[in-house]
Amino acid sequence: MSFTVNPLSPVLGVEITGLDLAQPIGENLASDIRQCWLDAGGLLVLRDQRLTTEQHIQFSRLFGPLFGAPGEIPLQETVSRYLHPDHREIYRVSIQLENGTPRGRAGAGTYWHSDVSFKSRPAAASILHAIEIPDCGGDTIFCNMTAAYEALSDAMKEMLAPLRAHNDFAQTAATQFAKPVVVEDDLTGANHAVHPVVRSHPETGRKSLFVTPGNTTGLENFSADESVVLLGFLYDHATQPEFCFRHRYRQGDVVMWDNRSLMHYAVCDYGDQPRYMERTTGIGEKPA
Ligand code: OGA
Ligand code: MN
Repeated sequence: MSFTVNPLSPVLGVEITGLDLAQPIGENLASDIRQCWLDAGGLLVLRDQRLTTEQHIQFSRLFGPLFGAPGEIPLQETVSRYLHPDHREIYRVSIQLENGTPRGRAGAGTYWHSDVSFKSRPAAASILHAIEIPDCGGDTIFCNMTAAYEALSDAMKEMLAPLRAHNDFAQTAATQFAKPVVVEDDLTGANHAVHPVVRSHPETGRKSLFVTPGNTTGLENFSADESVVLLGFLYDHATQPEFCFRHRYRQGDVVMWDNRSLMHYAVCDYGDQPRYMERTTGIGEKPA
């Protein structure tokens, strides 16, 4: 199988057409796809897919172990009601269930974040299958944290180099969930981690910022006021339009993003229109 690659934006992202992920993917093809993804800054859109949930999982496994898979690290308990009942590695995004039926308004990920960056081994690839999309709206915005890092002054890079930040599910919970739905166990150690503010990508060697409004609570050894100002600067800097790409979905898109080098934001602007996505989440390495 060969495929066609077109850039989606100068700062990040390519689309791939001509591939059918429902077919078996050999090792060579998988490594071509992976390379293409890394070269594109960590954002791939594979167009026109019709995958069963099993095929989606099978494709995702080519890129490493998945959160929630048998014997692997689970996602936090608080989101367990959003997991696929038969496949715990599938997180069902942008859907709220009420008496077992999808209800209109969504809102998962409506803030800048990197998936599960509050875990000691945060996500590598997240792979989202767009099964039902609104006629209009429901885009996802991605921000290239490598480009953002590289655009900083040498003096700022030097200052950031030794810094570490606290990342905590409590922050996510406060942003996204009403307090009573949060499972208390999720607010302890398993969903808190201190990570470097600047991490090096284990595959490309490139450095990126690794702090996010969604999950980062503060800088280690800095006062709260100092953290707010410095993190605020980094967020404003990183989310400038020049570092961002806004993806407008087509039915059947499979979108694969690298949480090690990108932030993303799910735009919740589609009112009661249905939007249904299934996501797998790859277990990454400890950031360094
Ligand atoms: C996610 C997420 C993106 C979207 O799946 O991790 O943040 O647009 N959602 O639904
Ligand atoms: Mn997300």
